[in-house]
Amino acid sequence: MEQTGPNFYDDESVFATYMSLRQRTDSANDTLEKPVIMDLMRPITGQRILDLGCGDAAIGRELLQNGAASYLGVEGSHKMAAVAKQTLMDTTGEVILQAIENWAYPHAAFDLVIARLSLHYIADLSPICTNIFYALAPKGRFVFSVEHPMITSCDQGWTSGTPRQNWVVDNYFTTGLRVTNWLGGTVQKYHRTVEDYFHLLQKAGFIIEDLREASPQRENFHDVKTYERRSRIPLFLILAARKS
Ligand SMILES: C[S@@+](CC[C@H](N)C(=O)[O-])C[C@H]1O[C@@H](n2cnc3c(N)ncnc32)[C@H](O)[C@@H]1O
Repeated sequence: MEQTGPNFYDDESVFATYMSLRQRTDSANDTLEKPVIMDLMRPITGQRILDLGCGDAAIGRELLQNGAASYLGVEGSHKMAAVAKQTLMDTTGEVILQAIENWAYPHAAFDLVIARLSLHYIADLSPICTNIFYALAPKGRFVFSVEHPMITSCDQGWTSGTPRQNWVVDNYFTTGLRVTNWLGGTVQKYHRTVEDYFHLLQKAGFIIEDLREASPQRENFHDVKTYERRSRIPLFLILAARKS
């Protein structure tokens, strides 16, 4: 049965597979997505940070070590939130077990909101962008990553669990629900075009400051073959915006 984002990550076997993938040397997250996110998040010192769909909150620990004033993670999966609590145990960081859609966003409480690879699990992003805008202090920033729309458009030509050799981009302008087999489970994701993400931000009042596709940098990879493979297709789309 297909599952929503948080329920998917609460599945015992999906959770175990995901955690081991994330810890792998040269994981796509560490080699491609994280360096761009870190770059766009700077400066970190003194920032009050909200992380939507924080997963294990490893980044929260790192941000606090790098001088963030505070870190709050919102996470919908019980299993992930429990790991995040452990990660932040001896820090000032906090985690709330709550769906991104249902949380009561406080007004002007954060300088930086991040959402790493969580927003493509959400059907309607328009109210979320409005809530994020509301929760940011004036000039506050919103930096997020999603699976690249070229990837979310279509998963034909791929058997989950095997290294993907060919990518089919199809039904690109037919946006909305995609049911995908991944990590041994079946999950609901939502496909949007690049233009959709851009307009969602604009509509909520944001000024868009940067757009990246996490092009691979050789120095971030131990293995040249993985670097070459990652040069074939974009996996991530990352946007940075500011509250006007
Ligand atoms: C791919 S993981 C990324 C975790 C973390 N942001 C990172 O980059 O390491 C996606 C996370 O988003 C969470 N998530 C997905 N949809 C969510 C929702 N609607 N509300 C809260 N969390 C959600 C999942 O439970 C999962 O922990």
